[in-house]
Amino acid sequence: MSNYHIKHLEEYYQVYRKSVREPENFWGEVAEEHFLWRKKWDNVLSWDFEKPEVKWFEGAQLNITENCIDRHLLTRGEKTAIIFEPNNPEEEAQHITYHQLHERVCQLANVLKDQGVKKGDRVCIYLPMIPELSIALLACARIGAVHSVVFAGFSATALSTRINDSDCKLVITSDGSYRGSKSIDLKGIVDEGLEDCPGVKTVLVVKRTNTDINMKEGRDKWLQPLLENAYLDCVPEIMDAEDPLFILYTSGSTGKPKGMVHTTAGYLVYTAYTFKNVFQYTENDVYWCTADIGWITGHSYIVYGPLANGATTLMFEGVPSYPDFGRFWEIVEKHKVNQFYTAPTAIRALAKQNIAFAENHDLSSLKVLGSVGEPINEEAWHWYNDVIGKKNSPIVDTWWQTETGGIMITPIPYVTPTKPTYATLPFIGIQPALMDEQGKELKGNQVEGRLCIKFPWPGMARTIWGNHDRYKDTYFSAFPNKYFSGDGALRDEVGYYRITGRVDDVIIVSGHNLGTAPIEDAINEHPAVAESAIVGFPHDIKGNALYGYVILKETGESRNHDNLRNEINQIITEHIGPIAKLDKIQFTSGLPKTRSGKIMRRILRKIASRDMSNLGDTSTLLNPEVVEEIKDNVL
Ligand code: PRX
Repeated sequence: MSNYHIKHLEEYYQVYRKSVREPENFWGEVAEEHFLWRKKWDNVLSWDFEKPEVKWFEGAQLNITENCIDRHLLTRGEKTAIIFEPNNPEEEAQHITYHQLHERVCQLANVLKDQGVKKGDRVCIYLPMIPELSIALLACARIGAVHSVVFAGFSATALSTRINDSDCKLVITSDGSYRGSKSIDLKGIVDEGLEDCPGVKTVLVVKRTNTDINMKEGRDKWLQPLLENAYLDCVPEIMDAEDPLFILYTSGSTGKPKGMVHTTAGYLVYTAYTFKNVFQYTENDVYWCTADIGWITGHSYIVYGPLANGATTLMFEGVPSYPDFGRFWEIVEKHKVNQFYTAPTAIRALAKQNIAFAENHDLSSLKVLGSVGEPINEEAWHWYNDVIGKKNSPIVDTWWQTETGGIMITPIPYVTPTKPTYATLPFIGIQPALMDEQGKELKGNQVEGRLCIKFPWPGMARTIWGNHDRYKDTYFSAFPNKYFSGDGALRDEVGYYRITGRVDDVIIVSGHNLGTAPIEDAINEHPAVAESAIVGFPHDIKGNALYGYVILKETGESRNHDNLRNEINQIITEHIGPIAKLDKIQFTSGLPKTRSGKIMRRILRKIASRDMSNLGDTSTLLNPEVVEEIKDNVL
């Protein structure tokens, strides 16, 4: 029996049971039947969550681009691999066939080699959502270079921190980017960031906006002329199963961003297998994930998962509101999209618009609707289900993380009965556990606790770049021998999971993970600021928005507060990016602290959410009086 494409609930349970009882046989069979190996593995899995060390398909050799491109050439050479829908609807869409993708990836791979990039070197990619972005990931993978994509909405400082952390020697960027009616000076941001990155010797620049930019002599090169002179074929580098494929940064609750390292074979097998089942992709479907490739969703479910299945994957350069709020639905109609995967924040924003934007378009091609990145509230779920899916396209609410590499808890469409706001059942091979705060596993149904995973899965990140101790501390220390996700969840009476949100100091704003510490560090750089604390509060489109409590130094107390608020948000934009801007900033004389000096964020969160009940016993605080002051002045 091929376990690759699950089609009924019975089959799900059967395959799930097998995947849990005999994980090695199960994943070994999936890997054997559906991928191209240069050498087979000696051992399907070895693991130790204490170290932690996890190895899948050890001893195997492969190149992921052979799996995503070359092996399709014979049967799908003329099939569209990537549809590119530009920001401006007047600009023609591009259809890149597998054959053309092969040529373009090989050409860029050859250019990278000519520029001295070798297996194991890190390459930073800072590009908008244009085909060159997908091609750049694949070109790195072709030659065994480790890509580190930085979302092109991040600031110069955020970019340079990431480049330095992983010691990238080359950056691929573009002159500019289009986002709705705006054009952004991407190269200017790169120039500024690179002032702090002595290790970067080469910058390859894609021409996209034809903006007049500064090209630094000896460092910056236009990509196009180099591509024109490059060979159309490039022999793939043969990689070991556990060789790193990419680094992708995610925010932590403390300190600098964590460079999650994903390796080659397990990531390929897991993203391909989840893609096939979670979207029930069949040949000739057109699949569209609206995420940016700067995030894990784009890596796994725009590039690697779909291409490994020979799918047609759509890339959209623009935003849902340009030229108007009908754009997503216009694209669905235009390209006859069958599977559509987006974030609750986009759904909420679109649901607020005139219903005609959706109703004016033929959405009958849709078969599966996906949601990812944050909890989807009931209202948004129903709107998605009724208005977009016309009640006959199942919603897959997919829970997973940068660290997990692929989808972990999800319905399988047409297989698992859905339930609004529930991610439902663990995916094949995934063994969740809910833990109480004392570290005891909560067995049975109708329980709520911290969401952990008990057993390795092929797509999991293997380490944090350059900091294995932090990897262990963050994910494997809270609950021994388990991976701890940082999320809370409940399991209902039938065993369905519902994710309740982060239980640490990560705040999800519009589906983006933001750590409180880096934002507070940025704010504290302002000369008038003495101390600050950030919390999240509910927002009807973004899910959460940020609320800052700021203590001013004496020098700042007489300053105009609106000006200060603007300056603080300006600093945040420079250090992190506009996504981390605060919606509300309350100036205060103090922050509630425990006697050991720890900020009581729980109290601040409640006040910011205007939930003044149950603040708990504040009398044991170091400074209980400040709670009253904060309550009185809440914004
Ligand atoms: O809190 C969970 C939330 O997003 C976090 C992971 O963020 P990131 O690493 O950026 O990856 C996002 C895309 C995979 C999780 O810890 N999250 C993700 N999906 C869901 C979710 N929360 C609720 N429901 C989801 N479906």
